[in-house]
Amino acid sequence: MPTQIHVIANQKGGVGKTTVAMNLGAVTYDVLVNPPALMREAAEAVGDPDSPVMVVSTDPQASSVWWSARVEKAGGLPFDFAQVEDPHDLRKLRRLGKAHIFVDTPGSLEDERILAAALDECDDVLVPMLPEPLAYDPTARTIDRVIAPRGIPYRVVVNAWDPRDGLPDLQQTAQYISKKRWPLCNTVVRRYKIHTRASAEGLVVTQYPKNRVAMEAREDFFRLALELGYGGAIPDGPSPAGVDTLLAQEA
Ligand SMILES: Nc1ncnc2c1ncn2[C@@H]1O[C@H](COP(=O)(O)OP(=O)(O)OP(=O)(O)O)[C@@H](O)[C@H]1O
Ligand SMILES: [Mg+2]
Repeated sequence: MPTQIHVIANQKGGVGKTTVAMNLGAVTYDVLVNPPALMREAAEAVGDPDSPVMVVSTDPQASSVWWSARVEKAGGLPFDFAQVEDPHDLRKLRRLGKAHIFVDTPGSLEDERILAAALDECDDVLVPMLPEPLAYDPTARTIDRVIAPRGIPYRVVVNAWDPRDGLPDLQQTAQYISKKRWPLCNTVVRRYKIHTRASAEGLVVTQYPKNRVAMEAREDFFRLALELGYGGAIPDGPSPAGVDTLLAQEA
C-alpha cells in the first residue's frame, strides 16, 4: 500500500492542528492494526516504532513533542513519531513504508517554508477551523494563498464546537465555508474538556477512560477517520455531531 501523507494545516494558531494530528494518528492506528482487546493494552504499553501510522511535527513550538513524550511515559504511543525541522527531511517520509503519516504544522505565518515543504510532499490537507468569526480570515488566507494554488485536495473540519453554545456559530461557519466553496467534513469535532486535558495527562483518544463522555469525545475522531477514508467502524445511526443532522435540526 503506498504511503498517504496528510498535512494538518492552518496558519491561524490554536485551531486544533496538533489535537487533530495526534488523535487521527491514534484512531487510524486503532482501525488499521485493530488488535484484539487483550493485546491492545500490551501493544500500547510498548509504544510502536513499527506502527503503520506516523505523526510528524514540523512545528518549532513542538507541542506534539511534549504531548508525545507524556503519552510514551503514560501508556505508550500507538504510532511512530518524529520532529522534523529541516524541510529536506520531509522528502524522506515516503520511504519509511508507513500507511498513513499525519504532519502537524506551525500555527503562524512565520517560516512558511516548512509548511510549503510539507504541502509539496503530501497527498491531501486537512484544515481544522474553529466555529468563530475570528477564525475566518486567517483560515481563508491559508487556503486561498497557500493550499489551493498548489492544487492539492483539501478539506476543512470544524473543531472545538461546543454544543452548549447552540447552533448559530456552527450554522454561520458552515454558511461561510459554503460561500467560499471549500469542501467541508460532515463530522464536527466537538469541544470536550478531556481533549484539552489530554496532552498534560499523556493520553490520545484511544486511551481515554471508558466513560460516557470520553466515549462521545473519541467518537468524533473515529467518525472523522471513517469519513476521510482511513477505515474503521462506528455506531449505527446519524452522527450526533454531523453538520447535516445538526443543521437539519435548525431548519
Ligand atoms: N475539540 C477540542 N475540545 C477541547 N479542547 C480542544 C479541542 N481542540 C483543541 N483543543 C484545545 O485547544 C488548544 C489549541 O489546540 P491545538 O494545540 O491542537 O491547536 P494548534 O492549531 O495545534 O495550535 P498551534 O497553532 O499553537 O500549534 C489546546 O489547549 C487544545 O487542547
Ligand atoms: Mg499545534
